[in-house]
Amino acid sequence: MRIAVLASGNGSNFAALADFFQKEKLPAEIALVFSDKKDAFVLKRAEKFNVPTFHLAPKDFADKKAYETALLALLQREKIDLIVLAGYMRIIGEGLLTAFPKKIINIHPSLLPAFPGLHGIKDAYDYGVKVTGVTVHYIDAGVDTGPIIAQAPVSIAPEDDLTTLEAKIHQVEHQLYPEVLKKIVMSKGK
Ligand code: GAR
Repeated sequence: MRIAVLASGNGSNFAALADFFQKEKLPAEIALVFSDKKDAFVLKRAEKFNVPTFHLAPKDFADKKAYETALLALLQREKIDLIVLAGYMRIIGEGLLTAFPKKIINIHPSLLPAFPGLHGIKDAYDYGVKVTGVTVHYIDAGVDTGPIIAQAPVSIAPEDDLTTLEAKIHQVEHQLYPEVLKKIVMSKGK
């Protein structure tokens, strides 16, 4: 199984996955990392893991559809079977969804359907909830919607601030995403 990781930023989730795939002998590989941002740190991380990197800038295309058509062509050329979003801060369009039905998964830093969007951690913190968490789900046409695959809770302690909460969330993400991906890979491998 050839996996593409799509990411827009730091790439700590990619690194956790790449570490995991190096240690576990799975019938799958992270075949490429794609970013919509040229300077995304995830691309540097990928080079360290010797994972091929690709970049397309949405602004270089006439519209979102043209951008996604180019991205889809790249993913098909690279014979990708599964798309893993790891901090990819764009809504997936119809073309990709149709080409990869139930083959695009995402991680989100809240217990969906609570606190979707770009600031899941901060929104939960500001709201004052005592428990937030992490969700892994299949992608559909909405913003952080789609069938939930797994969730893990994270408590917000009175002494937590946004920084400590972010650290807790990321730690849970880095465990949950590899576990979920392993299950998906193993179930498709049978
Ligand atoms: C992660 O916390 C991920 O859950 C979040 O972006 C961060 C990326 O971190 N994704 C979303 O908010 C999607 N709506 P990373 O670049 O260090 O992996």
